[in-house]
Amino acid sequence: MNKKTILKKTEAHLRSLFDGETSGHDWWHIHRVHMLALHIGKKEKADLFVVELGALLHDIADFKFHGGDEKAGGREARKWLVSLNVSEDIISQICYIVDNVSFKGLGVQETMRSVEGKVVQDADRLEALGAIGIARTFAYGGHKGRPMYVPGKKPVFHKNFKSYKKGSMSGINHFYEKLLHLKDRMNTKTGKLMAKRRHEFMEKYLKEFFAEWGGKK
Ligand code: NI
Repeated sequence: MNKKTILKKTEAHLRSLFDGETSGHDWWHIHRVHMLALHIGKKEKADLFVVELGALLHDIADFKFHGGDEKAGGREARKWLVSLNVSEDIISQICYIVDNVSFKGLGVQETMRSVEGKVVQDADRLEALGAIGIARTFAYGGHKGRPMYVPGKKPVFHKNFKSYKKGSMSGINHFYEKLLHLKDRMNTKTGKLMAKRRHEFMEKYLKEFFAEWGGKK
C-alpha cells in the first residue's frame, strides 16, 4: 500500500471513530492537529509521513478516556497500522509519538525525542491554546460534568501524573494548571511563534472573563 493510501485510510478510520464526539476530542480536533502538524513539519523539515500518521493517530486511545492507561494509545495505533501492513520501523516511531504526546502535569518531566514527535506535540498543544483552546476547555469540562469556574478554589500544581489525571476543578483552573504554561513548553521554533499569539489571546480572554464575573462590565 502506498503512503497516500495509508493516510487516506487512516483519515477515514479516525473520522468514523471520532465523528460527533463532544468532549473537544472529536474528528475536527484530529483534523486540525493534522493540518497544524503538516504546516509545522514542513518548516521543521521533519519526515512528513510520520508526522501525518502520528497526528492522525495521536488521540486514538487517550488516557483521559481509557481509565488513565498511558499505553492504550500505542496499542491501538499499532493494531491499526499492522492491519495496513505498515513497516515495523514506522510503527515504532508512531507508537512512540502516541504514547508520549500528552501533557501529564506541570511537575512531570517531558521526554519527546524525535523531531516528528516534537512537531505533533506542538500541533496538539496549539489546539489547547487560543480561541479553539478556550472552546475545547469548556467543552471538555462540560463533558466531565465540571463547573466553568468556582471562586475561591485555587489552581493546583500537579507534581505527578497521578495527581494530574484527576483533572482540574473547573475550566478556569485548567488555564492555570496547564494552558498558560504551554507556550514555554513548545518544542519547535515554528510552534513557539504560533503559541505566542494564541497565548496572548487567552490572557485577554481571562481578563475579560473576570471583569464580567465581577459584574462591573
Ligand atoms: Ni489531541
